[in-house]
Amino acid sequence: MADQETIEKLKTQIEVAIAGADTLPALDDVRVASLGKKGSVSALLSTLGKMTPDERKVAGPAINGLKKEIGALVEGRLADLKKQALEQRLQSEKVDVTLPLRPGPVSAGRVHPVSQVIDEITAIFSDMGFALAEGPDIETDYYNFTALNFPEGHPAREMHDTFFFNPDKEGKRKVLRTHTSPVQIRTMENQEPPIRIIIPGRTYRCDSDQTHTPMFHQVEGLVIDKSSHIGQLRWVLEEFLKTFFEVDNVVTRFRPHFFPFTEPSMEVDVQCDRSGSEVKIGQGSDWMEILGCGMVHPNVLRMSGLDPEVYQGFAWGMGIDRLAMLKYGMPDLRAFFDADQRWLDHYGFRPLDLPTLFGGLSS
Ligand code: DAH
Repeated sequence: MADQETIEKLKTQIEVAIAGADTLPALDDVRVASLGKKGSVSALLSTLGKMTPDERKVAGPAINGLKKEIGALVEGRLADLKKQALEQRLQSEKVDVTLPLRPGPVSAGRVHPVSQVIDEITAIFSDMGFALAEGPDIETDYYNFTALNFPEGHPAREMHDTFFFNPDKEGKRKVLRTHTSPVQIRTMENQEPPIRIIIPGRTYRCDSDQTHTPMFHQVEGLVIDKSSHIGQLRWVLEEFLKTFFEVDNVVTRFRPHFFPFTEPSMEVDVQCDRSGSEVKIGQGSDWMEILGCGMVHPNVLRMSGLDPEVYQGFAWGMGIDRLAMLKYGMPDLRAFFDADQRWLDHYGFRPLDLPTLFGGLSS
């Protein structure tokens, strides 16, 4: 029988348990043990059914009152515990904003000179209206050679010290691209002129010494339109060189050369001063070869699906690592790829100083 005494006793017990519950799960256990389906208060409630109406008149309000009181106590304790938890969290996550900054990855990390120079080149040519194009490092013989007007068996193929893959089932050998020029073809196949692109990327040749590494970087340029001409080529290259080397004047020399994919083809030298320990561009009386260029060969246009009677254009290719060595006075190319932290700390660039024409390329 649920007499007044039993109810009071139970109430005291549960009150003690609620007060003693000092975590949210512990409080929930108390709630379930009293108000849950099989809880002690619920058990009392279920005795009402077996009572006489008179007994029920007394016990009903008492047990229901108990249920309400316990419910309210649980709610109150729950609010307290949540408040406590929040305060503890705020306490533990407190930040002392007066502490000095610890150097983070952004101030400790360095941008590799090759990445820096690619960013500089991109900034300069995008200002002239060029878009960026990319292509795969693993190329087919067709894109690396044939479509660029290297006939089968032509000795120029040998000049490239090509890395070949094993032949596939049809006997075809893929190559690691020896230059960025195949992306010219891929772009012309897919894009209507006018085309103005630069193509920075990795290139590979089987060669290694102080100024050659098996993997190196080139940037290619391509302009195709109905009236593109060699005068524009020269202007674009000279503007680029002045901006890149951050000098007011560069003197260039265009020498006749041979590339299968251009006609006429030229190599470009810049005037420089080699008298000191570093090469200085924009002064002196020495010459340094810096890039290859020419007017795109009609065969190349034709093989890329463009009519050479309608379109003409010019292209160039230059070594990015070489430009970086020259501009930043780094004597040995091999160090570029050693991943030596000391070298990077010395020659690397701060990550948030992005090169722009208005903010300064290398400052
Ligand atoms: N692909 C040439 C090389 O790697 C460089 C080059 C020369 C690219 C003349 C050109 C060009 O687009 O017109 O040696």
